[in-house]
Amino acid sequence: MKALVLSGGKGTRLRPLTFTCAKQLIPVANKPILGYVLDQIRETGITQVGVITAPETQGNVKDYVKDGVQWGFSVAFIPQEPLGLAHAVKTAQPFLGEDSFVMCLGDNVTGQGIKAFVEKFEKENLDALIILKEVDDPARFGIAQLDKDGNITKLVEKPKTPMGNLAIIGTYLFSNKIHQAITHIKPSWRGELEITDAVQEMVNLGFKVKAEILNTWWLDTGKKDDILSANAKILDEYVKRDTRGNVENSIIEGRVTIDNQAKVVNSTVRGPCVIGKNALVENSFIGPYTSVGDNSQVINSHLEYSVLLENVLIKDVERLEDSLIGKNAKVTKSPIARTIKLHIGDYSEVNV
Ligand code: TTP
Repeated sequence: MKALVLSGGKGTRLRPLTFTCAKQLIPVANKPILGYVLDQIRETGITQVGVITAPETQGNVKDYVKDGVQWGFSVAFIPQEPLGLAHAVKTAQPFLGEDSFVMCLGDNVTGQGIKAFVEKFEKENLDALIILKEVDDPARFGIAQLDKDGNITKLVEKPKTPMGNLAIIGTYLFSNKIHQAITHIKPSWRGELEITDAVQEMVNLGFKVKAEILNTWWLDTGKKDDILSANAKILDEYVKRDTRGNVENSIIEGRVTIDNQAKVVNSTVRGPCVIGKNALVENSFIGPYTSVGDNSQVINSHLEYSVLLENVLIKDVERLEDSLIGKNAKVTKSPIARTIKLHIGDYSEVNV
């Protein structure tokens, strides 16, 4: 069994961050989302991993994954123009050969690993196992219908008429029969080879296509608020109290990780929270569900439920909440001027 991780795509919904960073590398709790995906693949014992990359971001992704030795993998990078998830599988066919594989989206995180799914797929000798999750707003997702034995009977992308609430979350296990199904499908109205169409084709061809329902949380980090939610979930689940950094005259409450090269002075930090390497927090309040990236500084400010990437400066800001701030960005307030002065990149969003 192999793994295929989709780390290409366009990332348009996360502009401007995705102008300089692959969206799979945006950190939650100061670790790239892709890292959580690769950790879950490692738990299955799979060691051959193909990583799909897009032309604009392949350098970043390669720099992070390197040769995969950190996870015990051998890694093949597979460049792809972003023409759909089924197109990614087609592009990866030389790497996949005749093997079965688990396919994961590099920007999705779930609260449960994939080991149990791999075991079920192998034990039941399936051609496809599609992981689903009950959602409140089915019209936004690919939705699957099942028979009473858990076989998939029908899949529809963003259904206009109700057909249940079981959404396809982006974890799929396939036998080599997927390649045959992909040869039968045509690009959709948006010009992409859709994996939903390929799975429907597997159903039509009479292959064994089953579903499993995820009973924990799942987040697709396609938009800003999803990143903040993923950050909160991960901080909630994984952060331990570890305040090895340089803490002076400060109150550190609850589960807070302060990197041993970070500095917190005259401040209050209330967990769950992480403060990265070489970060500085001075005369400030850092509230729950906040990640302060490496080399970032928060000075004379109040910050809550936010993610700061690397090398950010927040200075003299009375209250900043629900914010996602990209690398090397500065948010400051002049003590005298009442005017708001902005110097922001294309596609930025400011809510004053
Ligand atoms: P999406 O979020 O569906 O697509 P996108 O990355 O193009 O994003 P946006 O809608 O914001 O422009 O992709 C899901 C995951 O699959 C994501 O990690 C990118 C990856 N992907 C590929 O690797 N190849 C592809 O052809 C597509 C469409 C996505």
